[in-house]
Amino acid sequence: MDMPRPYVPVPEPLDRADHDDRADLDGEHDEPVHPTGSGGRHRLMVPEPAPLTEHGPARIIAVANQKGGVGKTTSTINLGAALAEYGRRVLLVDFDPQGALSIGLGVQAHELDTTVYNLLMERGVEVDDVIKKTGVAGLDLLPSNIDLSAAEVQLVTEVGREQALGRAIKPVLDRYDVVLIDCQPSLGLLTINALACADQILIPLACEFFSLRGVALLMDTIEKVQDRLNPDLTILGILATMFDPRTLHTREVRQRVIEAFGDLVFEATINRTVRFPETTVAGEPITTWAPQSNGAEAYRLLAREVIAR
Ligand SMILES: Nc1ncnc2c1ncn2[C@@H]1O[C@H](COP(=O)(O)OP(=O)(O)O)[C@@H](O)[C@H]1O
Ligand SMILES: [Mg+2]
Repeated sequence: MDMPRPYVPVPEPLDRADHDDRADLDGEHDEPVHPTGSGGRHRLMVPEPAPLTEHGPARIIAVANQKGGVGKTTSTINLGAALAEYGRRVLLVDFDPQGALSIGLGVQAHELDTTVYNLLMERGVEVDDVIKKTGVAGLDLLPSNIDLSAAEVQLVTEVGREQALGRAIKPVLDRYDVVLIDCQPSLGLLTINALACADQILIPLACEFFSLRGVALLMDTIEKVQDRLNPDLTILGILATMFDPRTLHTREVRQRVIEAFGDLVFEATINRTVRFPETTVAGEPITTWAPQSNGAEAYRLLAREVIAR
């Protein structure tokens, strides 16, 4: 069956020679940039979300990009926390054996006996046995640790191996408004499981040279999942991360991303700031650790956009 697919143009990688930071040393191009928004692309008014009187069924959003260090985990934590602030019930799924999502929320996942691994691989382990509350009201976590890396190998021989995560979380979908899955930096079987059960995918993209490399492969994988496993999967949006308003090149990379992906790019842009690594040490989201910060406001804007889309 031929499924209509969203047209997703894939941009060429930037040519380093044409986009050099040094060009900005005189500060000539330093126009003011909106702290959390588009820097004048087109100002969308993103409404304050209406409070919910009842909850569920959840929409499932996979946060994915096979490139590491682009802000997947940071975005999962902080988008989740911002959605919870708006009264949404949120379940975060740590689907990376590194366990960074769990650690970032102050959960010592390596000490846990029951994690997502057991949920996927052992009969009799229910999702409620694994869910943990976090310090943020309305924000729950399915923690993972290095055990999950074995699941990737063990699942290969299972029947319905791509649907293991979807099956596992199904019983609790009615209780949550949003499920966010923090994917590992690869396009392996774990990420395919996330895409197979997701309604939407959110792609963090760092505003750096070569960040667009690999996007074609990611789009190709999304198309294959749409064809073979999950025809309803759509791209929720692209989030520009690691943005440094002082340098010409990150502004240019962001501009290229907007040219290539248009309205798929969120108005919210995440600036590069040391406050994010600090929150990992603190084990809590930036929305509670530094509630007034630019970073917290940026993730609140993202949350409003996600609710509005
Ligand atoms: N906006 C940001 N500014 C500065 N550092 C960031 C930002 N977002 C994330 N980081 C840091 O960069 C590293 C990688 O981010 P992370 O969210 O773990 O990426 P991923 O999950 O895609 O590998 C982490 O140390 C994190 O604290
Ligand atoms: Mg990560």
